[in-house]
Amino acid sequence: MRLLTVSTLLLVCASSGLALQIQCFQCEEMTHDCSSPDFIVNCTVNVQDMCQKEVLVKDDGVYYRKSCASSGACLIASSGYQQFCTGKLHSVCITCCNTPLCNGPRQKKRAPASAAAGLAWRQACLQAACVLLLLLR
Ligand SMILES: *[C@@H]1O[C@H](CO)[C@@H](O)[C@H](O)[C@H]1NC(C)=O
Repeated sequence: MRLLTVSTLLLVCASSGLALQIQCFQCEEMTHDCSSPDFIVNCTVNVQDMCQKEVLVKDDGVYYRKSCASSGACLIASSGYQQFCTGKLHSVCITCCNTPLCNGPRQKKRAPASAAAGLAWRQACLQAACVLLLLLR
């Protein structure tokens, strides 16, 4: 009975789009911000849960590198490069974010409410399932 409740909840979560997929901008060492629709890619479901952005300041200009990333890989890279993130010549800044297309143009804009709400809903759903599992054990 309890197991049934939990599996039902999980099923509901899953059918409401639990598979976590975001889109990010992706490009390799471009001399522009590569934030046009041409550079949008689908990230690997449930694996690449973040967008990564690298800004490299070189002798001949500013270069951008963007991609999907797993949160683990991105957070390690960004913290590893933190000391090189000065904005000066030869600096490298790596940033990670976890909302759809968040590695786009420099912005204060928020993700579309619907996308953010979808993510929040999934997370709440997962948490509820976990709590139930713990409670009902
Ligand atoms: C991303 O996935 C959507 C929905 O599955 C699809 O319509 C779209 O063409 C994909 N975009 C790219 C760039 O692969």
